[in-house]
Amino acid sequence: MSAFVINGGRRISGSLRVQGSKNSVLPILAATFLVCGKSIIHNCPTLSDTNSTIKILKNLGCSVIREGSTVIIDSSTAQGYEIPDDLMREMRSSVVFLGAIIGRMKKAVISSPGGCEIGLRPIDLHLYSMRQLGVNVNEDYGKLVCNVPEKLEGNRITFSFPSVGATENAILASVTAKGTTVIVNAAREPEIIDLCDFLNKCGAKISGAGETVITVEGVEVLRPCEHSVICDRIVTATYLIAGAVTGGDVSLENTNPVHLQAVLPLLEEAGCKVSVRCKTIRLKAPLRLNRIDKIITQPYPGFPTDAQAPFTALACVAKGTGVIVENIFESRFKHIPELIRMGASIKTEGRVAVVEGVERLYGAEVVSPDLRGGAALVLAGLTATGTTVVKNIKFIDRGYEDFVEKLTAIGADIERINIPDDDSVNNVG
Ligand code: UD1
Repeated sequence: MSAFVINGGRRISGSLRVQGSKNSVLPILAATFLVCGKSIIHNCPTLSDTNSTIKILKNLGCSVIREGSTVIIDSSTAQGYEIPDDLMREMRSSVVFLGAIIGRMKKAVISSPGGCEIGLRPIDLHLYSMRQLGVNVNEDYGKLVCNVPEKLEGNRITFSFPSVGATENAILASVTAKGTTVIVNAAREPEIIDLCDFLNKCGAKISGAGETVITVEGVEVLRPCEHSVICDRIVTATYLIAGAVTGGDVSLENTNPVHLQAVLPLLEEAGCKVSVRCKTIRLKAPLRLNRIDKIITQPYPGFPTDAQAPFTALACVAKGTGVIVENIFESRFKHIPELIRMGASIKTEGRVAVVEGVERLYGAEVVSPDLRGGAALVLAGLTATGTTVVKNIKFIDRGYEDFVEKLTAIGADIERINIPDDDSVNNVG
C-alpha cells in the first residue's frame, strides 16, 4: 500500500490551478447514460472515483474515451441496466447511476451501497423519489431490483432532508419522464446546478436548480452536448488551508469564490488576508492563526461538511479554542484520534468537537480514515514539526488530483512511498 511522507514546517507559497469538481463529474458522467449520442465532458479530474465511474459506464455498454481532462462518452447503443457488486463497492456514490439507468432502461439492478467510512448513509430518500415517479423497488438479498411497471411519470417529490445524491437521482430519473416533476426541499449545492446546466444543454427542461424547489418538465430525448465541469470547491478550501496553517501565501486559479461564501469568512476570522480577483483567490496567512469561534456544518449554502476535517486541522494550531459541530454525517470525526496522535488537543462529545489550539503539532504515523479526514492529516503534517507518515491514502486519491505534485509545486516536502501491507489498518470504505 502507499503512504505520504511529509516533512513539515515548510511555508506553502505560489500558485495552483484547481481541478474540476469530483462531486460534479460523477453525476454528470452518470447523466451521459441518458443521452443518445456522444457527450464531451471537459475539466474532468483524474481521480480513482472518476475511473470507477468510467468503468461503470463501460460496463453498461457505453464507449468511453479519455483524452487528458476530457472524457468522451458515446451511449448510443448502451443497453446495460445492472451495476455489478464489485463496481458498486469501489465507490458508494455510484448510487447516482440509479436515476440515470431507470430513466433510460426503465429498470435497474444495483447492490445496496451499505454503510461507509463516514456513516450509515442510507438511501431511503433516493428510493422514495424513485417510487414517487412510478418505480417499483424490491430489495432482494443485498440487491435493489427496480423496474417501471407502467410508465415513469412526473410527480411531486418532497424530501425530508435536502440530500445531494437523492436530489440528483430524482432529477436524472424525471428528466425524460412523462409530465412535470416538482422536487421540494431539493439540495442547493453548486454541483446540482452544474448537473442541471449539463442536462439543459442536452435539451432538458429543468428550472430552479440552486433553489429549494426544482421543476423538471419531462422531455422525450436528450441530445449530445459539450460541457465543462465546475471547479472543486472542497479542493480549493484544502489548498487555502495548506497556505493558512504554514504561514503561507497561495493563489488559486480556476476557482469560483461564490461557492466558498461560507468558507472564506472563516479564513479571515482566523486572521488570513483573503483577496478575490475574478476566478483567482489569494490567501496570505499570519504567523499564528486566530481561533475560529464556531464551525457548524449545514447543507449548502451553509458550511460544507466536506471542509470540516480540513478546518479541524487548522483549528488544531490556532490561538485559542474553537467549537466544531458536524450536523450532516454521524461518523465524521474519525480524523480526530489521528490528530491527537500528532499532539492536537481535542475533546469530542457526539457531534461536537472542542479544539484547543496548540503551538505546534508533531510528526507521527497516522492512518487516513476517509477522503477529507485524510486530507486533514496531510494538512496537519504540513504544519507539524518533524516527519508525518499518512497511511491508507487510497481514500485521498479518490478526491485530490496529483496531490503530491501540486503540493510540492507550492513548497511542500511530501512524497508518496510504497510500504508493506499493515493488517492493523482499517480498509473499510
Ligand atoms: C454528497 C457528496 C459528499 C458530501 C455530501 C453532503 C457526492 C459524490 N458526495 O454525498 O461529498 O459530503 O453530499 O454535502 O456528491 N441521507 C439519508 N437518506 C438518504 C440520503 C441521505 O438519511 O436517502 C442522509 C445521509 O446519511 C447524510 C445526509 O443525509 O446524513 C446528507 O447526505 P447526502 O446529502 O445525500 O450526501 P451524499 O449525496 O451521499
